[in-house]
Amino acid sequence: MTAVAESPRTARWPLDARIEPSRQRVLIVGGSGFVGRHVVARLAAAGNAVTVITRRREQARHLILLPTVSVVEGNPYDPAVLARHAAGATAAINLVGVLHAHGRQGFMLAHSELPKLLVAACIDAGVQRVVHVSALGASSDAPSQYLRSKAAGEEVVTGSSLKWTVFRPSVIFGREDRFVNLFVALGRRLPVMIVAGARARFQPVYVGDVAQCIVAALGDDATIGQRYDLCGPAIYTLADLVRYALRTAGCERPIIPLGAAASRLQARIMEWLPGPLLTRDNLRSMERDSVCGCAFPPLFGFAPTALEAVAPDWLAPAARVSRFDTYRIRSGR
Ligand SMILES: NC(=O)c1ccc[n+]([C@@H]2O[C@H](COP(=O)([O-])OP(=O)(O)OC[C@H]3O[C@@H](n4cnc5c(N)ncnc54)[C@H](OP(=O)(O)O)[C@@H]3O)[C@@H](O)[C@H]2O)c1
Repeated sequence: MTAVAESPRTARWPLDARIEPSRQRVLIVGGSGFVGRHVVARLAAAGNAVTVITRRREQARHLILLPTVSVVEGNPYDPAVLARHAAGATAAINLVGVLHAHGRQGFMLAHSELPKLLVAACIDAGVQRVVHVSALGASSDAPSQYLRSKAAGEEVVTGSSLKWTVFRPSVIFGREDRFVNLFVALGRRLPVMIVAGARARFQPVYVGDVAQCIVAALGDDATIGQRYDLCGPAIYTLADLVRYALRTAGCERPIIPLGAAASRLQARIMEWLPGPLLTRDNLRSMERDSVCGCAFPPLFGFAPTALEAVAPDWLAPAARVSRFDTYRIRSGR
């Protein structure tokens, strides 16, 4: 008997049998993270097959039980890994992002080199559709390495022959975010909040809305070749956001805003801590307002969610109590 080599373009996906032929097979890098959790859940709920490449499977354990989702551990910088999982996919989504990296190279690796590798793997495997998530304010002349490297990544994708869509969100909030929740975690431990970059302005957007747009884009050819800035309905200074988060969580604290020099000093000190909460590069990103100059993209057909409409669901003291009650009931105590 002659062995028939499996062509990369016809390779079967692990969970192919569980989806209808009309559904998508979506390869995601960075899918284990905050936004990925919501994107993957939405794709799976709509019956699409999803493969998430993660550097550590443990990181994506919350996705493993979803019925049409396959979580594979692998190095996303390895072209062979990308080629293996791009084979047979109908679309790819890039959600990789790093806020803290060692110098320019670290940012460029994650934000520009990885998109290059993903684009090449897609082209080789015949995957035409790609959705790429960048960041609001990404530009080659932006003040931070984070934003400049994000701009380089956008160029890679938009300069490719793929059918691309790019999203550029402002800061994203949601139950699992590391922004609003961080202030609350600090506020619960500290008697006062010393806020660097307190006057920086943001227009935060809800993670559910970002995920809804990403998934909608995959099914709507009108989004091909488009970049969408994504913002919520309101603009806040960082100090406003901290104040709101603490008040909602029932732990109001005096807020001490730092000036530019003191902010830089605080960031310089914090850079030495493990998993730094703030770096000088983060501060440089905040030098430019992270606000949209336009309305939420009408094509998606919904109005963005207000922070105040959802944040109490997980921040308010009553929400905490009921969560602990759930744990207690589950553990039979
Ligand atoms: N969250 C926000 O407020 C916000 C705002 C604007 C733009 N964005 C952009 O939106 C996208 C999703 O954001 P997110 O908040 O979901 O991000 P996240 O949770 O911090 O991380 C997303 C994923 O990136 C992967 N990753 C992290 N460091 C990496 C590295 N050095 N090399 C390769 N992969 C790495 C991780 O996957 P594994 O560990 O599983 O490999 C992680 O699950 C990113 O592009 C981000 O820049 C986010």
